[in-house]
Amino acid sequence: MLVISITSCKDVITSDAFYEKDATHLVQDALDKKVDSVLNLMTLEEKIGQMNQYNGFMDFTGPVPKSEDIKRKLEHIKLGYVGAMLNVRGVKEVRAVQKIAVEQSRLGIPLMFGFDVIHGYETMSPIPLAEAASWDLKAIQESARLAAKEASAAGINWTFAPMVDISRDARWGRVMEGAGEDPFLSSEIAVARIQGFQGIDLTSQESILACAKHFAAYGFPEAGREYNNADIGTSTLYNTVLPPFKASNDAGVRTFMNSFNQLNGIPATANKFLLRDILKEQWGFKGFVVSDWGSVAELIPHGYAQDGKAAAKVAVNAGTDMDMESHLYVHELANLVKEGLVDKSVIDDAVRRILKVKFELGLFDNPYKYCDLERENRVTGSKEIIDGALDMALKSIVLLKNENQLLPLDKNGKNVVLIGALASDKNSALGNWRAAAKEHTGISILEGMQQYDADIVYSKGPELILGKAEFTKEIRINNTDITGISEAVKAAKDADIVVMVLGEHGLQSGEGRSRTQLTLPGVQQELLENVYEVNKNIVLVLQNGRPLALPWAEEHIPSIIEAWQLGSQSGNAVAKVLYGDYNPSGKLPMSFPRNVGQVPIYYNSKSTGRPSLPSPDFVFWSHYQDEKNDALWGFGHGLSYTAFEYADLRVTDNFSFNGTLEVMVQLKNSGKVKGKEVVQLYISDKFSSAATRPVKELKGFELVELETNASTCIKFLLDQSHLGFYDNEGNWLIENGSFDIWVGGSSEAALKATIELTALE
Ligand code: BGC
Repeated sequence: MLVISITSCKDVITSDAFYEKDATHLVQDALDKKVDSVLNLMTLEEKIGQMNQYNGFMDFTGPVPKSEDIKRKLEHIKLGYVGAMLNVRGVKEVRAVQKIAVEQSRLGIPLMFGFDVIHGYETMSPIPLAEAASWDLKAIQESARLAAKEASAAGINWTFAPMVDISRDARWGRVMEGAGEDPFLSSEIAVARIQGFQGIDLTSQESILACAKHFAAYGFPEAGREYNNADIGTSTLYNTVLPPFKASNDAGVRTFMNSFNQLNGIPATANKFLLRDILKEQWGFKGFVVSDWGSVAELIPHGYAQDGKAAAKVAVNAGTDMDMESHLYVHELANLVKEGLVDKSVIDDAVRRILKVKFELGLFDNPYKYCDLERENRVTGSKEIIDGALDMALKSIVLLKNENQLLPLDKNGKNVVLIGALASDKNSALGNWRAAAKEHTGISILEGMQQYDADIVYSKGPELILGKAEFTKEIRINNTDITGISEAVKAAKDADIVVMVLGEHGLQSGEGRSRTQLTLPGVQQELLENVYEVNKNIVLVLQNGRPLALPWAEEHIPSIIEAWQLGSQSGNAVAKVLYGDYNPSGKLPMSFPRNVGQVPIYYNSKSTGRPSLPSPDFVFWSHYQDEKNDALWGFGHGLSYTAFEYADLRVTDNFSFNGTLEVMVQLKNSGKVKGKEVVQLYISDKFSSAATRPVKELKGFELVELETNASTCIKFLLDQSHLGFYDNEGNWLIENGSFDIWVGGSSEAALKATIELTALE
C-alpha cells in the first residue's frame, strides 16, 4: 500500500510495491508523490534545514568548531534545521542524534550521516590510487562493498567517495584518493566503486550512498598546490575531467560534491555552468549536490561573493543543494527567499532531491536502519572484511623492476636483511583518510616477513619523521639526523639480499599535502646509496601515496616493488609478494616522472608541432635540455614473476558506425609460473578537424590469468563510444579517418594496427 497523504513523516508507511525493480516509472512517480507529500508539510525554515549539513563532534578537514557550536547544532536538529550530519559515527552516537531528529523535531524527518569512507572504514584497504593499480574492477567493487558493510554497521549511510578527479600532477597530495591520470580507467573504476557502495538495492542495510567528487577540475590545481585555481581548456574539461563524473551519474550515483577550486574564474560551488547546465540539465542528474566543507563561505575569500548572504545566494542559485558546514544556508536563505533574491522553486527543487534520496535509502521506513549494535560488533573487523583487505592489497602491488630475478625471495636459507623506518611502522601504511581506523593497527612489513623468516635481521636506519604524525598538522620530516645509517650499512654488508622499505609517510599525501619535490623524503636517498655501496642485491619496496621521481633507484637497484599504502594488511601482502606466494599483476595508473620538472606528465598528452628530434643537435623541438621527455615508468607499466608474449594483432576491417570493430590478440604465458596480465588497448585518432586528439588513449583492458605455457586469444569490441570525442563546445563527434590501435602490457604497447573509417556520410 502506498501512503501518499500524510500529516507527519512519522506516519510514512513502507510500501512493498515501492521498491519493485521492474516498474521504474511507477516507482519514480510514487517516490515523487511521497516526496511532495512531505514537502507540502514543511515551513520554509524546515525546507532550508534539509539543505544544511553540520559537522558532528570530530573535526578532520576544516576549522575546528567551538564546543558551544555543538549545543547549537543539537538545538537546530530539534528545530528541524538540519538535513544531514558528518563525522558522527558509531551506532550509539548515530542513534542518539537520529533520535533527536525523529522524536523531537516537528516533522521527524530522519538525518543522513556522512563520513569519508575513502578506502575502508575501520579496516583499511589500500589507498584508492593503489587499488586502481589492480585494474581489477571486481576486486575494487568488492573492496567498496566491504567498506560500505563495515561503515553501515557503524551507523554511516553516506560516504564522500569515490573521488573521481583525474590527476596528472604528483605534486598534488590528493592523487592518492583517485584512480590516476586516465579518464577511461577512472570512469570504469568510478562505476565499480559506486556499485560497491550503493549495491543493487539502496534499501539494503549494507548499502550506503556514494558521492562523486569533486565537481569539477579539482585535480588540476596550478603548480600542484592544494586548493589552487584550475586553468584548463574546454577540450581537457570535456574529454578528460568530465567523463568519470558522467560515468558516475550514468551509474546512478545519488550525490555529487563540488570542489574548492575555481574554473574559469568561477568557484565550482557557485558554478552554474557545471552544476545546472551540465550536471542537472544535460546529464539529468536526479540526486543532490553537497558543497565541499565550508566551500560556500569560501566564495568570499575567492572574491566571488561580498559576504555570507551573497555567498549563499550564488551557491544555491548555481545548484549547490546542501551546505556542508558553512552555516550560511541556514542563516541566510530564508531572508533571501523573502527578499525575492532566491526563488522558492530553487529551494523546493533542492529539498525534493534530498528527501528523495532519504526515501530511497529507506530512512523514512526505518530511521534506525543502520543502528544495530549487535551488527556493529559482529561486522567491524570481521574475517570477511580483513580477508577482503588482504586480497585487495595483494592485487594493488606493482612490480616495477626485477633484474637478475632477485625476486621472489628464496624461502629457505637466504640471509635477508630488512632496512628502513617504514618497514616496522604500523601506522603509516594505513594511509591518509582513515579517521575511523585504530592507530598503529596495520600489519608492518617486518611482521609480514617474520612469518617467513622468524629471525630476520632488521635495522631501522634513520627515522623518517620527527615526533608524532597527526592528521591536522604538518608532518615533520627528518632531514638531518643520519644516525642509524652506519648500523644499517653494517647489517647489509654480509646479507645475501637487502630489502629496503622507503618512501613517504602515510600522512604526507592526501588533502593539504602538496609537495614541490618528488624525491624520497628526508635522508632516505642517502641511506639507499650508502647501503648500495656495500651490497648491490637490493630489493626496494616503495611505500608512497603518489608517484615519486626515482631515477637513481631505477638505474641502480635491481628489484623495485611499488607497495603504496596498502592499509591494514599491508605487511602480509608485501611479504606474500616478496616470497612468491603471490605473483604481482598491478599496473601503474599514473606515470612516474624522472624529475619533478616534468610534471604534469601523462601518457595521453597531445602532440606538438615539433614532437621529435629532426636531426642530431637540433635545438628547436619540444624537449628539455637536461631531461628526457618520457616518464621513468609510464602509465600501465607493471611486471610479473612470469613473462607474457603478445602476438598476432588482428582487426576486422568491416567496421561501420552502426557496428563494432573486433580487435584480437594472442597472449601467451611464456614464463615459469602462473600469472595475471592486464592486456591494454590504446587508440590514436590521427587527425581531427574539430580539435586535436591525444597521442594515445586507453579504450579497453582485460585482466587475464594464464598457467605457464598457456595461450589465449583476447578479443576487444570497439564502437562509437570508443572512437568519438567531445569538441570544444561539448558536442560528441566521430569522424572518418585513420586510427592507430595498439595492444600490449602497458602504454608502451608495441603491437600496432591501423584502421580506416570511411562509413560516415
Ligand atoms: C574534502 C572532502 C571531504 C570533506 C568532508 C573536505 O575537506 O575536500 O573531500 O569529503 O572535507 O570531510
